[in-house]
Amino acid sequence: MTIQNGLNGQLRVASDKSITHRAIILGALAVGVTRINHPLLSADTWQTIHAVEQLGVSVEVTEDQALIITSPGALAIRSNHFQQPLQFDFGNSGTTTRLMIGVLAGLGIPATITGDASLTRRPMNRIVALLANYGAEIQTTDGHLPVTIHSGITADAINETLAVPSAQVKTSLMLAGLSAGISVVIFDDFKTRNHTENMLSSFGVAVDCQAEMIFVAGNQQLVATTVTVPADMSAAAFWLVGATLQPNSDVVLTDVNVNETRSGVLTVLRRMGANITLTHERTQNGEPIADIQVTSAEMLIGTTIAGMEVPTMIDELPILALALALSRGDSRVLDASELRIKESNRIVTVTKTLQAFGAQINETPDGFLIAGVDHLQVPNQPLVDYDDHRIAMLQAVAKLLTSNVKLREEIGTIAVSYPDFYKDLAVLIHD
Ligand code: S3P
Repeated sequence: MTIQNGLNGQLRVASDKSITHRAIILGALAVGVTRINHPLLSADTWQTIHAVEQLGVSVEVTEDQALIITSPGALAIRSNHFQQPLQFDFGNSGTTTRLMIGVLAGLGIPATITGDASLTRRPMNRIVALLANYGAEIQTTDGHLPVTIHSGITADAINETLAVPSAQVKTSLMLAGLSAGISVVIFDDFKTRNHTENMLSSFGVAVDCQAEMIFVAGNQQLVATTVTVPADMSAAAFWLVGATLQPNSDVVLTDVNVNETRSGVLTVLRRMGANITLTHERTQNGEPIADIQVTSAEMLIGTTIAGMEVPTMIDELPILALALALSRGDSRVLDASELRIKESNRIVTVTKTLQAFGAQINETPDGFLIAGVDHLQVPNQPLVDYDDHRIAMLQAVAKLLTSNVKLREEIGTIAVSYPDFYKDLAVLIHD
């Protein structure tokens, strides 16, 4: 079967991974019964579910795939003396790891944390060194996993300016403060994703956000609530680019989180000439949501992506690089060295992947240089996905566009963030 008729139809892509991780953790710190509607249930978010279960929190999945989290709250967990240090293996999940290091250091729970080969290569000092400033005793293995938490933070306030554009670092510090019951001030000049800040008011916690400053007063108890998770812009991005590039496409993606700290992909695709329209704009649990319609573009024009834009599309840069590779003229991605420390070194893996499809792309220390081509070629070598879910999805969309045939693939590493990726593809090509 071919996809000459383009990608067509309406669907709700996978739920937001960042918001689901945060809802599970805040539910675990809150007193009472929290309900999470439409959670992402993927390999990564199961890691966070199992993590909070080890703290003595109960998590149930209902028939309609909601999560029910029942917890005695942070104060009670803190005073629960665990007999042995807890042992965690967080698999591939960087978000679980960084956020849980903050929670465990805030609660003062001794633990050892490890993960898979990819996670073990990723830097942990960016959070461990900060928590140590506040009295936590934490040992890394040359800045990486395994990490051992010997004792928690002892300071009576956290006050930091982010040195790296990382929402995981920001959130880890906020969760450490909330878990310890102390005040937190963070200056985030990069304006990284702000889902924790947005969600906290649903849990009854007052957060003061002014320009780059985030302030959470100490001694605020989280109260259980209901959180409804929207669809993930990072999942939507694969179909936004696919439908833009594939002729005869008309796709509606419903219920997508369009938070401006996450929606840089929309800004850039529109700047390049994509046809994207937002409808039914609304707010849910402090997050802006919309339905997004995308139709094929006549032509895309190359662009430069740099500076403050980068954090707003950091996870979408692999699939955006495919759009840049098929645009008229030259494109540059700068200031994106964080890509080197994702699930794979994405500056290398995106470059190699797109080169295999015949794209004119070269890596730079902090991004890519791309000269647009008219069309890509079918790779003449077997592709590897570097155990990186976003590289696997980039390859799937690139294969779809170049060979114009339906794919029959195992879900593999894509299950980390988008378990229904191939089911959704079948909907769009009316398989
Ligand atoms: C995330 C933040 C980003 C992103 C990751 C999820 C989060 O990582 O790449 O997929 O949920 O806070 P960094 O904080 O390392 O930039």
